Amino acid sequence: MGILKKGFLSVVFLSIVHLATAGEGMWLPLLLKSLNEGEMQSLGMKMTAEDIYSVNNSSLKDAIVHFGGFCTSEVISPDGLMLTNHHCGYGQIQSHSTVENNLLKNGFWAMSKKEELPNPGLFATFIDRIDDVSDRALEGVTKEMSDTERQSMIDQNLELIKGGYRLREFQDVRIRPFYQGNQYFAFVTTTFNDVRLVGTPPESIGKFGSDTDNWVFPRHTGDFALFRIYSSPDNQPAEYSEENVPYKPKHFLPISLDGVEEDDFTLVFGFPGRTNQYLPGVAVKQTIEKLNPAKIKIRDTALKIIDKYMRGDEAVRLQYASKFARVANYWKKWIGENQGLKATNALDKKAKFEERYIKSAKDPSAKKLLADFETAYQNIEELALTRDYYQEVAIRNIELLNMQRYIRNLVSRYENNGEDEYNNYKGRLNNYLQNFYKNYRPNIDQEVFAALTELYSQEVDAQFIPSDFKKSAPLFKAKNSYKALADLIYSKSIFTNKDAVMELLSKNPEEAISIIKEDPAYQLGKSWESLYNEKVAAPYSSQKNDIDSLQRVYMASLIETFPNERFYPDANSTMRVTYGQVKGYKPRDAVCYTPISYLDGVIEKYVPGDYEFDVPQKLISLFDSKDYGQYTDKTGKVPVCFIGTNHTTGGNSGSPAIDAYGNLVGLNFDRVWEGTMSDINYDPSICRNIMVDARYILFIVDKFAGADHLIKEMKLVRPKTRAGSSTGSGIINKQKSRR
Ligand code: ARG
Ligand code: GLU
Repeated sequence: MGILKKGFLSVVFLSIVHLATAGEGMWLPLLLKSLNEGEMQSLGMKMTAEDIYSVNNSSLKDAIVHFGGFCTSEVISPDGLMLTNHHCGYGQIQSHSTVENNLLKNGFWAMSKKEELPNPGLFATFIDRIDDVSDRALEGVTKEMSDTERQSMIDQNLELIKGGYRLREFQDVRIRPFYQGNQYFAFVTTTFNDVRLVGTPPESIGKFGSDTDNWVFPRHTGDFALFRIYSSPDNQPAEYSEENVPYKPKHFLPISLDGVEEDDFTLVFGFPGRTNQYLPGVAVKQTIEKLNPAKIKIRDTALKIIDKYMRGDEAVRLQYASKFARVANYWKKWIGENQGLKATNALDKKAKFEERYIKSAKDPSAKKLLADFETAYQNIEELALTRDYYQEVAIRNIELLNMQRYIRNLVSRYENNGEDEYNNYKGRLNNYLQNFYKNYRPNIDQEVFAALTELYSQEVDAQFIPSDFKKSAPLFKAKNSYKALADLIYSKSIFTNKDAVMELLSKNPEEAISIIKEDPAYQLGKSWESLYNEKVAAPYSSQKNDIDSLQRVYMASLIETFPNERFYPDANSTMRVTYGQVKGYKPRDAVCYTPISYLDGVIEKYVPGDYEFDVPQKLISLFDSKDYGQYTDKTGKVPVCFIGTNHTTGGNSGSPAIDAYGNLVGLNFDRVWEGTMSDINYDPSICRNIMVDARYILFIVDKFAGADHLIKEMKLVRPKTRAGSSTGSGIINKQKSRR
């Protein structure tokens, strides 16, 4: 084929396929200059790439924090005040709550720094710099190498690269693969370990709408909480100490009182967890047709049982609310994901894309690569499905079996490392067990056990069913055999009973271990795990490695085949920037959502006494008297949430939504249901992220909580008003470095 023709094909391709449309993409901050700045400015951004990410000057990135390693947060005052989601701080808020002093229910506002609450174990990580280390990481790697040889070469290289960094105490360097292992970037981090709780609204604001509204727009949730970073008196990271002082950050985000309106530019800065944008169609098909339906069905079964008990008993509701929310969260997400993948014809899109890829690829092996994917995904299907079944049934949803993982750990510590290690682990286990039993109802769990083990046995191949299921063989002949199995285990196991477990752990290790080993829950958990490890996990991971290396070759080939396209790397919990515009959407025929919700909508949804839609009296009074202060938009109403085309995922919770000038306008906390398939197939027509409007946060802190000392330490700005007037420039207002 002549050069000309090839060139022609890729030009045609370019005009048809946009791998990254405006809104799509989670970009590396250090590459914004070369890949994104132009587009960002054309969407309305008034900053430069250097204002967002700079190694030498303070920039937006210096205000962005990885919160506990699982969420994002941002610094919003010169005194280290930090904003994140209520659902990100939930664990901390819960741990400070007691029946008498229920922070979840009543909210909490430290009225002075002395009242701020320490959170052992919670940490806040800044990114000091990001380096492209691809060349050095891949040095010596050849195409001929086996996967193992390749990986060990890379591992050696990474050690060398890490060793080359001179790090201060509390600094670390982490190197992560990008583009499925075709590139490597190093992240130098600084971590602070003294992070205190400053304020949180009551659940009736912070979790308003609960599971019914989760993943849904229109939304009216004030999903935020405030923390503060503390440092040593010389502004360095330090373990918790009374001597510590509020940290002076390199940068903090001013907050805009002007907010945003439809079509305004926004960027979201944070730590998205995981996406799969470059899967072959066959993998997406497997997700849609096999894996998602299986996981949905399992959780559906468990949730129905728990819901039944929660509705019948207020005490159960309290005990199970948080667990229920956790299980329901991804259950609902997968349902939305499947619907969205179908609604946007994701499989057709993938098929057309692959057809064009084969035509355009210079490498004749393109066709074979896709055929190899077909075979590999066919081969792994049963293992992948069984793996999901095991993890959902034996690990995530049957509580008794989940807790057995810790018990097995205890036993193996004793057997491998002796009594000291046993006692050490037992000490740490105590906390977990106290929490576990505080919220545990064996009768509910037993019913879940019966239903899920039955489902497991129906859906997976006989070779993956633990023989322990059949130990109660005579019982199995009876009609409700899994119910019988559950009866047997839950009536005989001591692990359904807190007192018995505490007594067990007070015995000497030898004796305790021999009792544990006789326990039917321990025995079932252990034999099921061994069976799983041998017959599922091991072959799965070897096949998955093969798929990963196909995926790496595919990614490299895509980049080579379409040199003029911008490819963004899948999310991997590293710092990213995504940007787009405030926009409504049309989820269904004749339905159209405008992008901003208001306090009026909170009141519309109000159901007195309801656990999801109750509204605090104080908020109702503020609404009735229209006591809104400066927190309205030009409609004169208080905006609560808004949506945009920013491409986000789990881990972006707590990420700041930033306006064209670098000011905070919102707090990311969710996506719309129809668009949760953006993890696999972003589609600008229905993918929207959901943010709390910064003015709602300020309104709650100021008018609802009366914590105006917190408002005073923030910097409130009016960039649009200023830009519109003859005096101000509206340009990002940078704080001087205070280090
Ligand atoms: N859907 C949001 C996020 O993953 C919020 C989850 C917390 N809220 C809840 N009702 N479960 O993860
Ligand atoms: N709530 C999610 C989180 O915890 C963010 C929503 C999403 O998945 O986009 O990170």
